[in-house]
Amino acid sequence: PDTPLRDRFGRTVDYVRLSVTDRCDFRCVYCMTEDMSFLPREQIMTLEEIARLARNFVALGTRKIRLTGGEPLVRRNILELVEEIGSLGLADFAMTTNGSRLDKFAEPLRAAGLHRLNISLDSLDPARFRRITRTGELSRVLEGIDAARAAGFRGIKLNTVVMKGRNDDEIPELVAFARDKQVDISFIEEMPLGVITEHDRGESFCSSEEVRRIIGQRHELVPSTADSGGPARYYRMPDSQIKVGFISPHSHNFCASCNRVRVTVEGRLLLCLGNEHSVDMLRVLRSHPADDARVQAAIIAAMDLKPERHHFSRDGDVQVLRFMNMTGG
Ligand code: GTP
Ligand code: 5AD
Ligand code: SF4
Repeated sequence: PDTPLRDRFGRTVDYVRLSVTDRCDFRCVYCMTEDMSFLPREQIMTLEEIARLARNFVALGTRKIRLTGGEPLVRRNILELVEEIGSLGLADFAMTTNGSRLDKFAEPLRAAGLHRLNISLDSLDPARFRRITRTGELSRVLEGIDAARAAGFRGIKLNTVVMKGRNDDEIPELVAFARDKQVDISFIEEMPLGVITEHDRGESFCSSEEVRRIIGQRHELVPSTADSGGPARYYRMPDSQIKVGFISPHSHNFCASCNRVRVTVEGRLLLCLGNEHSVDMLRVLRSHPADDARVQAAIIAAMDLKPERHHFSRDGDVQVLRFMNMTGG
């Protein structure tokens, strides 16, 4: 299109993160409460509605789509959606997953046209992994990572949320694991999304600066020029092909180059991760079943709501009540 999506601050929005479910087979301590309840089916978009949104975003210049959750692979018939979006000719088509079902899904996902995978991995110790995810089994995820490597994706990246007292002492092992498996790894500062109780975000906070210092004791980290336009800052090590990324919403403000919006599985178009502004796209989709021009007009109008930046703070105020599994990261 001649007019790609642009917001009031001149940022081009060509990256859309679509959440395909709020459900998950894990209950990670930083993401959910133990007794999380999930949306009833009539409140969530059908796969056809998600695909229709994707097509309309692509018509407006979207070049990159990432499917998120919850856990995308617990959504029934997810491969049909991946195939449909995979046929839209995107420059980049990715998924963020917890890896628990990749042993079965890695190959069909690749075959359906998915380019890249981000896989969460917070610990290499089975008991700790269980404590962090509450229900997850490490061995399944490790098998999933190997299945993904065998399936020939363009890129695989591990995501580690670093928490003091839970996994901060495993940083060197996680880097060694990523080097060994030849996959990228990103270390993430925990973000204050949703009210969680039995895990104190203030106490477990570990800054990216600290993580970088720890890795720096063993490896030379050279800033990488590759800029994703995203929140991660990447480094390379002279003796490895992999990239090490740092996502630091608290210490590094990347909002000026933000290129993305997200859609929750309820069809709320969110203009910023750290903000509640949203547009009800499900209503637009359902009131205009045959009129894609209306869908595109609503998307274009929504861009004016994109805020200049997020205002995450670490003083314990929760500014965003929405949980991460409702948001898709
Ligand atoms: P790409 O940029 O597509 O390579 O992936 P990513 O690393 O951004 O995506 P992923 O789904 O793996 O998310 C990793 C972490 O980045 C999660 O903790 C997300 O919540 C966080 N994240 C993604 N986008 C944003 C953003 O716009 N702002 C902030 N603060 N965090 C983000
Ligand atoms: N802060 C930072 N990252 C989070 N994730 C989930 N909840 C949070 C949070 N509160 C991460 C997951 C996954 C990605 C989608 O977001 O570990 O890798
Ligand atoms: Fe599930 Fe991901 Fe949330 Fe963990 S962080 S509970 S894997 S959605």
